[in-house]
Amino acid sequence: MERNVEVWTLNSSPNRPAFQPSSRLHELSQEEAALYAQLDPQKMPQHVAIIMDGNGRWAGKRSLKRFLGHQQGAESVQFVVETASRINLPFITLYAFSLENNLRRPKSEVNFLMKLLRSYLVGNVRRMNDNNVRMQYIGRIHELPSEVQDTMQWAEEATGGNTGTTLTLALNYGSRSEIVDAARNVITQLIAEAHERGCSLEDLIQVDGLDARLDEHHISNALYTAHMPDPDLVIRTSGEQRISNFLLWQIAYSEIFITDRLWPDFRGIHLLEAIQSYQRRERRFGGLGDSFTDEDLDTLEPASQVAEEIVSELTPKQLAQK
Ligand code: FPP
Repeated sequence: MERNVEVWTLNSSPNRPAFQPSSRLHELSQEEAALYAQLDPQKMPQHVAIIMDGNGRWAGKRSLKRFLGHQQGAESVQFVVETASRINLPFITLYAFSLENNLRRPKSEVNFLMKLLRSYLVGNVRRMNDNNVRMQYIGRIHELPSEVQDTMQWAEEATGGNTGTTLTLALNYGSRSEIVDAARNVITQLIAEAHERGCSLEDLIQVDGLDARLDEHHISNALYTAHMPDPDLVIRTSGEQRISNFLLWQIAYSEIFITDRLWPDFRGIHLLEAIQSYQRRERRFGGLGDSFTDEDLDTLEPASQVAEEIVSELTPKQLAQK
């Protein structure tokens, strides 16, 4: 599947593109519109990633089969994506099926999830087009059954002209294997370049130095997500406090929002609540943050004075040992 690759800078959030106001806010429910009105349009996330968890528990609480929890979970996907598209969220990425799910869940459940995915795509492409949503995927897609891949490709192509929200489903996805795939890609490209130039890999690396040939940008640009900004916000439903091998590289500076709500009960309003919580956070990206001013810096004691104070606190015995 070809991807329209548009390379974003590392931690692209600080260099975010200008805010695009939505012309579809009138399509929000009354409750959603009231909450949206409280949000700061200048601080909207560009990319929200969601770990959809709790389908099984949702079904168990109702004495239903797990399958019905997944079916209800698929309904939530469409509701949440529609709200995302109405507020003009550029990227939403959903963890729909992990490599570990594929390996560790009973075959019958895996088969059901594959069927559900196909019927979701077939049943929702029209609604995606109505909502200007573009469908994409990340993961080891080539390992999925071929009929599932065909339907996925069809849905991607059928929605490929849409310019609103990009919905990315992580399927047969594992973050560690994504990083392994990225490293293999970087090495493969280097070998190809050495071959083209008629020199050895060692010679190629020696010309520019290893630092120039392999840094964070090279890895970032070789990940499945190279065409997207890193997530600003990660939401996990059902209360578990884990990342579960999801976008480990990309979420280095993401804000995390965990809710006890089970995925089949999650709706657009809850997405807006998570965004509201996100907007209250101060993102520092390893720096001191906007609330730390130059005046605060002036009030800090000079390092030499601090050092003197530390020495004067030491006992004579400790000083002798120095
Ligand atoms: C976790 O629930 C969820 C999954 C393993 C799959 C997510 C799938 C869906 C939301 C439905 C299908 C999606 C699409 C796009 C068609 P769990 O089974 O681990 O729940 P539990 O922890 O309560 O058992």
